[in-house]
Amino acid sequence: MVKVGIITVSDKGSQGEREDKAGPLIRQMITEQGWEVTASDIIPDEQHLIEGKLMEYADQLALDLVLTTGGTGFAERDVTPEATLAVIEKQAPGLAEAMRLESLKVTPMAMLSRATAGIRGQTLIVNLPGSPKAVRECLNVILPALDHGIEILKGSAGECAGKFHHR
Ligand code: MTE
Repeated sequence: MVKVGIITVSDKGSQGEREDKAGPLIRQMITEQGWEVTASDIIPDEQHLIEGKLMEYADQLALDLVLTTGGTGFAERDVTPEATLAVIEKQAPGLAEAMRLESLKVTPMAMLSRATAGIRGQTLIVNLPGSPKAVRECLNVILPALDHGIEILKGSAGECAGKFHHR
């Protein structure tokens, strides 16, 4: 069972001024995948708080996958990618590249997301944009590859070769 954590990064959401719709959507999509959401939080756009929560989810809760939503854009307080880069040990650029590539087919605004992805210990961390629409579009792009990626990360998968059919 893949254990997943969801971090909604939003000043307004954390103060109860805006309903968090992205977090529950991620929860629904992850549950439909047959995975388990073991932890979720809504925190403000403060880099040290985001870093602390990412480390807690990776090091203490030992989650397999942590998905963040929000704070990836150009606003002054958008610092989710910086917090992520500060705590990961390896980058996993293909995930963010794939999300932007596919999202660009939907909207040119996709290039405004600075989302990143990477690995801390045996935890994969992926930034998603903040809007529920963007969350759905981006998560649908990466979900087909995540299962195998997480298996390899946990050391429970063998070779990739021959396991998957090309499109
Ligand atoms: N990606 C997809 N697939 N669909 C979208 O509608 N919106 C973009 C972008 N990525 C969008 C998307 C917009 S408008 C912004 S500003 C950036 O994500 C950053 O969003 P964030 O600051 O909420 O993280």
